Amino acid sequence: MSFNLLKGKKGIIFGALDEKSIAWKTAIRCHEEGAQLVLTNTPMALRMGQINKLAEIVEAPVFAADVTNMDDLKLLFEGAMKHFGGGIDFILHSVGMSLNVRKGKSYTEMDYGFNQKTLDISSMSLHKVLRTAWDMDALNECGSVVTLTYIAAQRIFPDYNEMADAKALLESVTRSFGFHYGTRKKVRVNSISQSPTATTAGSGVKGFDGFQHFADKMSPLGNASGEDCANYCVTMFSDFTKMVTMQNLFHDGGYSFTGVTQEVIDQMGK
Ligand SMILES: NC(=O)c1ccc[n+]([C@@H]2O[C@H](COP(=O)([O-])OP(=O)(O)OC[C@H]3O[C@@H](n4cnc5c(N)ncnc54)[C@H](O)[C@@H]3O)[C@@H](O)[C@H]2O)c1
Repeated sequence: MSFNLLKGKKGIIFGALDEKSIAWKTAIRCHEEGAQLVLTNTPMALRMGQINKLAEIVEAPVFAADVTNMDDLKLLFEGAMKHFGGGIDFILHSVGMSLNVRKGKSYTEMDYGFNQKTLDISSMSLHKVLRTAWDMDALNECGSVVTLTYIAAQRIFPDYNEMADAKALLESVTRSFGFHYGTRKKVRVNSISQSPTATTAGSGVKGFDGFQHFADKMSPLGNASGEDCANYCVTMFSDFTKMVTMQNLFHDGGYSFTGVTQEVIDQMGK
């Protein structure tokens, strides 16, 4: 069902790799709600993923860009503005990668070279995206930027490893840049803290299935799906949330404020 919530709006979606990606589902919902889109991912993801299929569905051009590379970002924003014939109304930053997790290094054995790269891709890339938009004055008045995060930024989940630190930094960049962009141009910047979701990045966390099941049992509404997250992103890009900024918004079925549920107590008693 469409409510035309994004009619006339123009947005860039980072991070759609395949049909499971939160960015993929968000692109589809934004398109259904009337937005015009530009899609972007790394050259490698363009080769290995299925983004061209998505591009057809949402009638959007695809630009290759490594989100850590300022030259790539400048070309991306120039291309997007040319395509739209003007400024950008919203951005989804749906990007994350942990080199230490990928290389099987535990938190206490962290390789600091890998860690620098993880923080660059997963956290400072939001700064780089916002900085590029800021320098080029690419975002329209009352624009909206959303990034995706996880509650491991606030609480320890041992197997989330260095990504916990990366998400804490990401949420801090959200607040800090949100302040500056809000003051300058009423642009809002928020993070959505999503339930565990079975995607390529999500499933990379050790013991993901058990982790996802536990979160589901610990949430009064159950886990929020990728589709639910896409809908939430749409509302954050719409004019109905124009006074919300610098927030970390939990989108997790109530998990973040639940101490325990009867189902988990019953399970522990077995
Ligand atoms: N899946 C979950 O359980 C979950 C929960 C909370 C938050 N998140 C966050 O949601 C976001 C999207 O992840 P997802 O779960 O949809 O998985 P995904 O694997 O589909 O998406 C991650 C994307 O990041 C892109 N990426 C990696 N390095 C990049 C780079 N250098 N430049 C540009 N793009 C790059 C990948 O190509 C991929 O498209 C991530 O920030 C993730 O941490 C996921």
